[in-house]
Amino acid sequence: MSMKNLSKSDAPKNVTRNEKKLNDNDFIVSKTDTKGKIIYCNEIFSKMAGYDASDLIGANHNLIRHPDMPRIAFKVAWDLIQKDKEFFGFVKNLSSDGGFYWVFTYITADTDSNGKIISYTSVRRKPPQSAIDAIAPVYKLLVDAEKRGGMDASAKLLGEFLAENKTTYEELVFTLQKGGGN
Ligand SMILES: Cc1cc2nc3c(=O)[nH]c(=O)nc-3n(C[C@H](O)[C@H](O)[C@H](O)COP(=O)(O)O)c2cc1C
Repeated sequence: MSMKNLSKSDAPKNVTRNEKKLNDNDFIVSKTDTKGKIIYCNEIFSKMAGYDASDLIGANHNLIRHPDMPRIAFKVAWDLIQKDKEFFGFVKNLSSDGGFYWVFTYITADTDSNGKIISYTSVRRKPPQSAIDAIAPVYKLLVDAEKRGGMDASAKLLGEFLAENKTTYEELVFTLQKGGGN
């Protein structure tokens, strides 16, 4: 068993177009401390991410953060889970070989008997291809907006996109996960 203490600097610098796909019945599970450091992950997690499970424990979850993901997506997630609210969303993750895999993710806080947040748990499944096809160009626009004007710009753009489509973030995510939307 190795113990590499992986950090973001160990992530691949060059991303590739090599896509891995989850099987229909797979669940990727991980748990983090309150700062986002991995304290548990299952076998499919380490297989898809491409690291030994023992090396992943203690690593920050941003190890598998893909550069195509807009920062605003993680802000929305953290703002919700820190208030003990559930987050659902589509995430493109980075594998150790520079490739990627898409997930439909659920993140929730774990609380003690006093309601204090002690850790976070995430469960992920394979998203429908139609959801990936719909969300990838939106994320691209958000990433481009962030390059120009930071998260203020992407937050504004996301708000405008949802208003134009007469929807909310939650509604959009569930429509896409059911295979609907345009
Ligand atoms: C339980 C849990 C699971 C997470 N899973 C992922 C994930 O699969 N991929 C990811 O990029 N970020 C995930 N995050 C978010 C990361 O903590 C982090 O906010 C994100 O990677 C952006 O990191 P950065 O702001 O340092 O670039 C997760 C957070 C929590 C609490």
